Amino acid sequence: MRKPHKAPLTVAHRGASGYAPENTLAAVDKAHELGIEWVENDVQRTKDGKLIVIHDTTLSRTTDVEEHFPDRSPWKVSDFTLKEIRTLDAGSWFGSQYKGEKIPTLDEFLGRLDRYGQELLLELKSPGLYPGIERDTLDELRQQGWLDRRHTRSKLIIQSFDKASIEQVHQQSPEVKTGFLGTPKTGDLKEYAKFTDQINPTYTDATKEYVDAVHALKGPHNKPLEVFTWTVNDADTARKVADAGVDGIISNKPDVVSDAVQQT
Ligand code: G3P
Ligand code: CA
Repeated sequence: MRKPHKAPLTVAHRGASGYAPENTLAAVDKAHELGIEWVENDVQRTKDGKLIVIHDTTLSRTTDVEEHFPDRSPWKVSDFTLKEIRTLDAGSWFGSQYKGEKIPTLDEFLGRLDRYGQELLLELKSPGLYPGIERDTLDELRQQGWLDRRHTRSKLIIQSFDKASIEQVHQQSPEVKTGFLGTPKTGDLKEYAKFTDQINPTYTDATKEYVDAVHALKGPHNKPLEVFTWTVNDADTARKVADAGVDGIISNKPDVVSDAVQQT
């Protein structure tokens, strides 16, 4: 008989982004308030080389950049310095109570997680736009103490949709756990298992058959590959992917998911 599996971990997607503006310190605070230990974020780089936490490659959707810099269309993250970005309001779009919330630096984001003892699923977002961001990110993590044994053993995973980027992270810091975002063909999984510890598909791809195929392989740390799936915001889907055997569920409403999977 198949061994019953543990309830999957719940990961707050861009922080608890169903309740607070995504990828802000307020979204980390909210995840903590909900009792969620794992937080996902998206890391990009400013014009002057600073690492910041934001999902889109432009600033328009989640800030008031168009008001402050009307002539700087298309408002790419990489065209603005950190000083300029710090003038932006990254909270009001979500709700007036978040007015004045800033786009955090990676450094600040890590500090907030450390305050709560939280874990980080760090996504390198569109790394092709930022040559060398793998090295920059690992350097920043090292400086902030996130590459010590305690963090690399259980508090940090670096993931990306970009296979080459994850391969680089693995080569540069093999002690760090990594994840590939996407659904490689099962016949290709062996190749991925050389450099990634996780295969993280969208929830519609997280079938039992696919999850079993991933689990059958061992990753670079000689443990079975894991599956964290995204983005699940309702109880029924959470139970479905939990039944398929996933190891983690990434959610904008992590409280809903956590409650659903604890009950199964
Ligand atoms: O962590 C999975 C998920 O974040 C990937 O999609 O677009 O929300 O970064 P996206
Ligand atoms: Ca992400």
